[in-house]
Amino acid sequence: MENHAKYKNFGNALRCPLCEESLQVVQSKSLICPNRHTFDISHHGYVNMLSHSPKSRYNKALFEARKNIIMESDLFKLLHEKISAVFDTYSADSDTPAFILDAGCGEGSHLEKILGNSRNRTLTGIGLDLSKAGIAQAAKRYKQSIWLVGDLAKSPLADHSMNMILNIFSPSNYKEFKRILAPDGLIIKVVPRAAHLKELRNAISKEKSLYKNDETISLFKKHFTLTDIITVSDTRVLDKSERTHLVQMSPLAWDSNETALGAFTTRSCQITIDADILIGLNQKETRL
Ligand SMILES: C[S@@+](CC[C@H](N)C(=O)[O-])C[C@H]1O[C@@H](n2cnc3c(N)ncnc32)[C@H](O)[C@@H]1O
Ligand SMILES: [Zn+2]
Repeated sequence: MENHAKYKNFGNALRCPLCEESLQVVQSKSLICPNRHTFDISHHGYVNMLSHSPKSRYNKALFEARKNIIMESDLFKLLHEKISAVFDTYSADSDTPAFILDAGCGEGSHLEKILGNSRNRTLTGIGLDLSKAGIAQAAKRYKQSIWLVGDLAKSPLADHSMNMILNIFSPSNYKEFKRILAPDGLIIKVVPRAAHLKELRNAISKEKSLYKNDETISLFKKHFTLTDIITVSDTRVLDKSERTHLVQMSPLAWDSNETALGAFTTRSCQITIDADILIGLNQKETRL
């Protein structure tokens, strides 16, 4: 789809993040609200809807490494297949167009893979991330989806405009997610389990993996009707260059000892993916 034209069909699903009014697409190049807040559609087709540029350690090099691992290794293959199967199960009426938001999408490769695996061709992907570097890469590579720089805690999406929300290894804001999800909309949240990337964790930390996701799951259950938890446990052998990308893509490696990271990339080992896919329906009144 042409970079700018896709916003024509999508304008109604957006709202101004500054004043919460609706947005109109003007001359196929800008989104403008009644209070004249204006957001331009960039050359590559993404829209920056932030009024400031937050500092972030998620930079171009990190996102490039994420793309290499997600698109070119098999590390997340099983995770992608399981999520695509959830899409297909829950969008059984495949003639109905549906919007899927990936909240905290990074450079967009998970969304691209998962939509590509799905049998359903009426799904439109929307990727939202605080990082302009991530969204700019996504928009350059993946032309079918809509890419927005924005804050998932104050999102530029209209009430009840999304049929599904995907949230992979990223922060959540459940109040916002409930606002933008359609009644009976679906949320699919991926959270790490104790053994996730344990080889990298163990290489850089003396503490052995103590991470538990119980609290994340109970918070999720307070907001949504939990319909299923799918556990994805898988190991893959990565070659040396893939292990280097794994280190570069991972916040786990931030501020870690260079020698330990060097030893990790040199030594051949299997890498473990261990994650829960939480599936929830937007049916529940918040009880907080
Ligand atoms: C660990 S990365 C995961 C990215 C992607 N889902 C993946 O798995 O490759 C976390 C992402 O959340 C984004 N993020 C953090 N806070 C955010 C917020 N308030 N709004 C939107 N994105 C946010 C970061 O910019 C980063 O891209
Ligand atoms: Zn406005």
